[in-house]
Amino acid sequence: MKEQVEVLKKEVKERLGKTTSLKEVNTIKTEYLGKKGPVAELTTHMRELNSEEKKEFGKILNDLKQELTSSIEAKIKYYEEQELNQKLASEKIDVTLPATKVPVGAPNILEKIIEEIEEVFMSMGYDVVDGPEIEEDKYNFEMLNIPKGHPARDAQDTFYIEDEKILLRSQTSPVQVRTMLKAGGKEPVRMICPGKTYRRDADDATHSHQFMQIEGLLVDKNIRLSDLKGTFDVIAKKLFGEDCETRFRPSYYQFTEPSVETDISCFVCKGKGCSLCKNTGWITVSGAGMVHPNVLRNCGYDPAIWSGFAFGFGAERLAMLKYGINDIRVFYQTDLRESETFDRKEAE
Ligand code: DAH
Repeated sequence: MKEQVEVLKKEVKERLGKTTSLKEVNTIKTEYLGKKGPVAELTTHMRELNSEEKKEFGKILNDLKQELTSSIEAKIKYYEEQELNQKLASEKIDVTLPATKVPVGAPNILEKIIEEIEEVFMSMGYDVVDGPEIEEDKYNFEMLNIPKGHPARDAQDTFYIEDEKILLRSQTSPVQVRTMLKAGGKEPVRMICPGKTYRRDADDATHSHQFMQIEGLLVDKNIRLSDLKGTFDVIAKKLFGEDCETRFRPSYYQFTEPSVETDISCFVCKGKGCSLCKNTGWITVSGAGMVHPNVLRNCGYDPAIWSGFAFGFGAERLAMLKYGINDIRVFYQTDLRESETFDRKEAE
């Protein structure tokens, strides 16, 4: 029996030495220490021994059990640790890996720029008003001093809906007329109106058959061109930075007299000359002028008492300048790859 015990010890030692996995060790465990294993078998033979022999052999068997158990358990522990280490190594978080991109929304930049302008004007006491996109020829042209047959109408190739009477507004200027009529010729007016406008233009990088304008109007007593200059200065600095300078150039609109083009100093080259400002150092951002006496009169304001200024920004143009966009169509095509770049700029 003692020999058998030694053989068993040797066998288990050898087999444990050859194992490569936890599973193999567990097989050895059940094979040798299980109910039908050789250790249990040896225990049954105890019955055949006398008490002296039992005592001696009992101890030998106990030692055998303990020795086998501890060497098998040690091996089990070894494999379990190995497995855990492997798991830890394979599941290690690599903080340098690029993160999964979570798509996030961002405010539409056109709306953002409009809101920014609204805020500045509201802080100066202006109301933000609305007007219809389907407009009457009367408001869109006639009352703005552009009678039928006037060549100025050609510049705004208009979508007519019904005869020559109803149209899709080609500018937000009719809102000037509507606002003054509403005020009844008795009260001062301060309003801006951002809104959609329509023209029969072929779409290209700088034209869109639908685009947005921001109209402004101030009517009061003793309003002068210098008030327009001061107001324009405030908005230009707010939008393009404190070092932004402004200038007026003479222009012509039927509903203003005098009329001006309003320029800002180029914020890219700071006036030195670059491709954005076509080497002039200046960028035109709106049309403006003093409200024409005929328009004041048409809307019930006596030009001998009242005067005012008006202006019209192209919203897309402002956004294109501010965000360095060179094609107006990106505002109206839903290509996320394109709009994402603006969102990113916003986030920076
Ligand atoms: N309505 C003009 C246009 O669409 C822009 C404009 C110019 C508006 C001068 C004004 C203004 O209010 O005073 O071209």
